[in-house]
Amino acid sequence: MKRNLISMLDVKDDLEKIIDLSIKLKKKSKKGESIELLKGKTLGMIFEKSSTRTRVSFEVGMTKLGGHAIFLSKNDIQLGRGETIEDTALVLSRYCDIIMYRAMSNEAMKELAKYSTVPVISGLDDKEHPCQIVTDLMTIKEHKGSLRGLNLVYIGDGRNNMAHSYILGCSIVGMNVKIVSPKNYWPDNYFVSESKKFGTKLQITDIVDGATNNADVVATDTWVSMGDEKEKVKRIKDFQSYTVDEKLMSLAKNDAIFLHCLPAYYGYEVTKEVAHGKQSVIFDEAENRLWAQVGIMVTLCK
Ligand code: CP
Ligand code: NVA
Repeated sequence: MKRNLISMLDVKDDLEKIIDLSIKLKKKSKKGESIELLKGKTLGMIFEKSSTRTRVSFEVGMTKLGGHAIFLSKNDIQLGRGETIEDTALVLSRYCDIIMYRAMSNEAMKELAKYSTVPVISGLDDKEHPCQIVTDLMTIKEHKGSLRGLNLVYIGDGRNNMAHSYILGCSIVGMNVKIVSPKNYWPDNYFVSESKKFGTKLQITDIVDGATNNADVVATDTWVSMGDEKEKVKRIKDFQSYTVDEKLMSLAKNDAIFLHCLPAYYGYEVTKEVAHGKQSVIFDEAENRLWAQVGIMVTLCK
């Protein structure tokens, strides 16, 4: 049976195993040992949206695994001229061993996964960003030693791909989540009800004062995700009191860490002082995209 990773729920049974494998392969590779576990394999990477980290980390990761990656911009392939997702999936499955897809919509993602005969990995869609959350949990585990029982506070757009995948991913590993967001941007009910099945604490509030009390991890993301550009002016207004600044960080535990998937927009969702401050681990997090995806690709290709 082929496995996909398009929602955090796709790895609900082995998420910590994937994280531990990623940490192990990272250490091994840094010691100069070979991790060529996917020799001769090819990853096709379809992009419908811009990317720095996803594109580069998948390509470098596949190289480290002894395989090869092909960058496919939607504008350059026939998908951009009206070839169906179904035919694209059926054809790419004949050439590639894994397909990575950064999609405009979750519907398109599901359609590709339905017809692909090889594993499909989401490089983000409008609902979830699973590779980023596997990465973030890996980064938290490296810094904190374990995950169960930790408190993550996410401040910002509560209905975007990052918020949804945090809700699921943290619940799966036994972490408590607080989403701090204006009421109009609270998460889709689906993610809230799925997270309840794991028995962890999920709190959703629009009150930002004191929101980071007792946090082990403080996280945020852009207020204007790719696809939301038309709402930019309204969003900046709606979120203006939700900036993660030094005052909010000072309320978190002394050893709390700050996460941001990047790209960051300083002065909006976070100040540069916090993002480049002593509690921030955003560049470890960015690096870990590479290692988490190595762990994910090896697991899905088994
Ligand atoms: N965090 C993330 O997915 O970054 P890119 O958009 O640069 O790939
Ligand atoms: N929520 C952001 C994440 C970017 C990596 C977006 O979808 O644009």
